[in-house]
Amino acid sequence: MLKHSRKILVTCALPYANGSIHLGHMLEHIQADIWVRYQRLRDNTVHFICSDDAHGTAIMLKAEKMNITPEKMIMLIKREHEKDFKSFDISYDNYHSTHSKENYELITSQIYPKLKRNGYISNHVISQAFDPIKQFFLPDRFLKGTCPKCKSKEQYGDNCDRCGATYNTIELIEPKSTISGATPIIKKSKHYFFELPKFEVMLKNWISSGSLQDTVMNKIQEWFSSGLKKWDISRDAPYFGINIPGEKNKFFYVWLDAPIGYISCFKNLCNKKTNINFDEYWNKDSQTELYHFIGKDIVYFHSLFWPAILEASNFRKPNQIFVHGYLTVNGKKMSKSKGTFIKASTYLKYLDPECLRYYYASKLNSRVEDLDFNLEDFIQRVNTDIVNKIVNLASRNASFISKYFQSTLSTHCIQLELYNEFVSSSEKISRLYETREFTHAMQTITTLASKANQYINEKKPWIMAKEEKKKKELHDVCSLGINLFRILIIYLKPVMPKLAIRTEKFINAKLTWNSINNPLVNHKIAHFKPLFSRITPQTAKKIIQMSDI
Ligand code: MSP
Ligand code: ZN
Repeated sequence: MLKHSRKILVTCALPYANGSIHLGHMLEHIQADIWVRYQRLRDNTVHFICSDDAHGTAIMLKAEKMNITPEKMIMLIKREHEKDFKSFDISYDNYHSTHSKENYELITSQIYPKLKRNGYISNHVISQAFDPIKQFFLPDRFLKGTCPKCKSKEQYGDNCDRCGATYNTIELIEPKSTISGATPIIKKSKHYFFELPKFEVMLKNWISSGSLQDTVMNKIQEWFSSGLKKWDISRDAPYFGINIPGEKNKFFYVWLDAPIGYISCFKNLCNKKTNINFDEYWNKDSQTELYHFIGKDIVYFHSLFWPAILEASNFRKPNQIFVHGYLTVNGKKMSKSKGTFIKASTYLKYLDPECLRYYYASKLNSRVEDLDFNLEDFIQRVNTDIVNKIVNLASRNASFISKYFQSTLSTHCIQLELYNEFVSSSEKISRLYETREFTHAMQTITTLASKANQYINEKKPWIMAKEEKKKKELHDVCSLGINLFRILIIYLKPVMPKLAIRTEKFINAKLTWNSINNPLVNHKIAHFKPLFSRITPQTAKKIIQMSDI
């Protein structure tokens, strides 16, 4: 039967181009990459894309601090981000930037004119805090003062850490600019707003179509009950961003142009490859699938603003938003001063990227839960599961196959219940990958590995090898061991693509999902070389260090 092949577009959130990729970011990119690789392994067509999010005040200020132009800074950072993702084997088909021709054109000549024409843009004059020294309007994050409710000091411009109150910037007591230290003045300016409230019914329908996880739905219900508000989509100069057509000193707020970066990155990919049809993926009635992997902090943007902007400008909406929790390190929020703010590049200096890929997989599920990177647990899990259980299965059988049987597997595979159990687990493991229950998928795989090892322990090939009349059985047992190992690595392939490549060389066959049913018989394998190295605590500890960001 011919399986219908799905066409899927997958994105991760676009990392800001003002800092390095850290292990928190990697959680998202690894989660998405595992899902994407699984889909490809099942012969679905997947386009996996991401970009740097290159605009906004924070980027402008960071470049100023570094004494280079924002253009130069985002170029250098993009290069670094791409290198990190490649090192972790994140299989992007395209990595672009929101500071691009495609993004500029999409927003200024397609999306914004449509929003305007359809009556979704309005203007209002608003009062905002303005830094009289730096001569610009201060975003809430760059303002600190005393909370108007509980009077605690050093609180941000829009909410209080201490009592949880949210307020308007102008209510903050004794406000100070965190950039210049100056007391801001209140200044009026015209802003552009997007009419989010007009999309309430559409959003409620979209959400009831199963686009969000349960806990995210609950959060959204709260937002609906407190009422949707118009969204301020403009910022005044100086601002590093996209100029609003017809305005000299006004720019689109970075959070408007950033998600549009999903579309423009795909457009850029279509321009490079002739066989992808842009409209097939983005037309309102598209039959293809679209998924965004994001962290819990940016749900509002992706589940309210983004679908509304898409609807308003006549594009398709995402099928689902996959929200993950936050990474903590040794039980705490990552911290530069504790050395637990681990950059991807620091990790890569000391450890194999596949260890992290496996560790995350072994802990990730489909819920919005935080995930802890615990150094000891990390070492133990990788060493126990990958080295002791899985790779060891290959090494303990391979030595007999090469020593006594010219590296050739036996002419038939013993169809043990155990073998059938390995084969029939494929449905369960498929379902677990598909639904992002990676922790259960990994448990299923390691349980199978334990069973295979137990079988070898019971058969004791090292004893059989001593008796000539047991040679045939030895051959069959060890050949089965290799075949079971092969199935395990097929199941693990989305998580550990490099281990899979080494295994393909070793067993001298491609690891495809469809080949699970057909054991290798009378088949020559290569000489066994160690497939994976154990992590030593001394090396692992080195990743916890003072970061020089
Ligand atoms: N630029 C925006 C996203 C725009 S999408 C149109 C942004 N950038 S970010 O660099 O701050 O974060 C990128 C992604 O990494 C987000 O999904 C965010 O949730 C995720 N993470 C950042 N720190 C994280 C952890 N400590 N743990 C897990 N994910 C984290 O937001
Ligand atoms: Zn307070």
